[in-house]
Amino acid sequence: MPDLETQTPDSLMMFGFWYRALPSDRVQRSHLHKAMLLEIPLVIGRDRQGQAFALRDACPHRGMPLSYGWFDGQQVECSYHGWKFDAHSGQCQLIPSLTADQKLRVDRIYAGAFACEERDDFIWVFVPEPSPAGAGFTKVVEPELRAPEVPTFSDKYKTAYLTADLPCSVDHGIIGLMDPAHGPFVHQAWWWRSRSSIHEKQKTFEPIPLGFRMSAHAPSSNSAPYKLLRLYADAESITTTIDFVLPNRRLETIQAGKYWFSSLTTVTPITRNHCSIDVVAAWNIFRWLPLGPELLKFVFAKFVEQDRRTMEKQSEGLQYNPHLMLIDDADRPAKWYFQLKAAYFEARHTGTEMKHPMSGPVTLKWRS
Ligand code: FES
Ligand SMILES: [Fe+2]
Repeated sequence: MPDLETQTPDSLMMFGFWYRALPSDRVQRSHLHKAMLLEIPLVIGRDRQGQAFALRDACPHRGMPLSYGWFDGQQVECSYHGWKFDAHSGQCQLIPSLTADQKLRVDRIYAGAFACEERDDFIWVFVPEPSPAGAGFTKVVEPELRAPEVPTFSDKYKTAYLTADLPCSVDHGIIGLMDPAHGPFVHQAWWWRSRSSIHEKQKTFEPIPLGFRMSAHAPSSNSAPYKLLRLYADAESITTTIDFVLPNRRLETIQAGKYWFSSLTTVTPITRNHCSIDVVAAWNIFRWLPLGPELLKFVFAKFVEQDRRTMEKQSEGLQYNPHLMLIDDADRPAKWYFQLKAAYFEARHTGTEMKHPMSGPVTLKWRS
């Protein structure tokens, strides 16, 4: 029997984490960009020094989106009544309608502001737990941890990023990402692998804080990138590790002697039924290939596009709330994801320590 408690994507969003908001190169100085994370509208920009900031895209006065306002490189001015806010702290600096004898404490008013960091090719925003209703004007929540980054293992390396919108909930985006059984059907291509190369696989998984790891192993023999990697190092020395960590991160590291490739993929909730998938990859292999980054980006883009198209079609089927199944062993990682999420909410709700759904290493088998 499928586990009823954990099989249905609930699209609950996880507050209190860093999320990728926009690719860095889309945000120019002195321009205001709209973005959305976890159904929170944001306005994102860069100050004169190039430092990124993120504010809630709603003026605390009467809700006008601040993105319609003006930005002088330091303060954002609302287009409705001209209130001015510091771009980083959100603190109000000016209310033009006040007369000299009106003593309203302007500096006690804040536009919602979010901690913001630039990592690799993205602007990350920390989305805290929503403050209780009636909490009034609150300051930026300073997160305990810094925004995640792609691990690198040498001084010289290249990076590339990719971003795509997925018309589905974050849960379907994530379980699609960790699903090993769709490969032969969705990702067919002559340079990648064919459907007839399907064979039995066995992988060991272990619990890690807030997630699980597919332990270091020799990678799948039926995919082209790994065949390419073998030109660099003998098969025995190639290892790959894949981590999934709440709320939405998949980290893959492939090492072959002194050569390495790593990628950090995130699936970010934009709204309840819309998410974005963002991949940043870093590598020191293929550096001699003149077309290295372009080639890799092409392969990755093709891959992500195949997933996107699949999820677009799937969302058509999901519209009418069909019953869904998660089967062993291929869907076990998806089950762990739902269990981890449930355990996280449970711990937060009860104020106790989070109980990890896995008690130790587990070996899974499937054909793909
Ligand atoms: S709504 Fe922004 S200043 Fe009035
Ligand atoms: Fe895929």
